[in-house]
Amino acid sequence: MATMKLMEVLLLTSSISIASAKHIMIPSTSFNSQSDFDTDWNYLYPWGSDHNGAARMRESQVSLSDGVLTLRATRVDGEAPAHHGGKEIAIRYLSGAVHAKERFNVVAGGGYDFAGEFRAPVARGTWPAFWLTGVDSWPPEIDMAEWKGSGKISFNTFNTSSEVRALDVDYPNPDAFHKILCEVRDMNGQDVSVRFSMDGQVVATQYGRGFVGKPLYL
Ligand SMILES: *[C@@H]1O[C@H](CO)[C@@H](O)[C@H](O)[C@H]1NC(C)=O
Repeated sequence: MATMKLMEVLLLTSSISIASAKHIMIPSTSFNSQSDFDTDWNYLYPWGSDHNGAARMRESQVSLSDGVLTLRATRVDGEAPAHHGGKEIAIRYLSGAVHAKERFNVVAGGGYDFAGEFRAPVARGTWPAFWLTGVDSWPPEIDMAEWKGSGKISFNTFNTSSEVRALDVDYPNPDAFHKILCEVRDMNGQDVSVRFSMDGQVVATQYGRGFVGKPLYL
């Protein structure tokens, strides 16, 4: 089971050097009620129920309570296999995913802050994630927080499938909520910088080549 409280998603429209405006794209109240959720989020992945793992997403595995979104995985038998990258993948679990209705396109001089609080399992076989992936192509991908079942938390940016900066960091006290902040900024009209923070401490800065102008799913 993974739970999430959204802190907020901010758009930064920068301007000529002096001022920069902040606009809230998804408010921290977006898990407060079903109608708040429906304003900003959809169930499943943007492309459907399956991805590259042994879990199939279902709306019924997602619940909302007191401003917290819970995604729950359940063992299942008898599901048809998934297909990904020319391979058949057996489905062993039903699980939950949600994605923002909004798409996030870093423009020249701009950027976004993505922030939330997460309580995520790190047991072997689990793989919760808070991530951005390209709408029109892959990459871009930014894994703002990913727990790959190793006991660690990972922060990753993909330039290509093989040119990846991937950082695994110790993840203390998985039973508590941890704050994640990911600050994505245009650097030069083409590339972005991605600064990852956990519980108020900067953990890493990575760079995405050519991410400016490429819309992202959250
Ligand atoms: C991705 O591209 C950016 C911009 O060119 C570069 O700074 C960064 O080092 C690249 N990442 C990797 C893992 O090579």
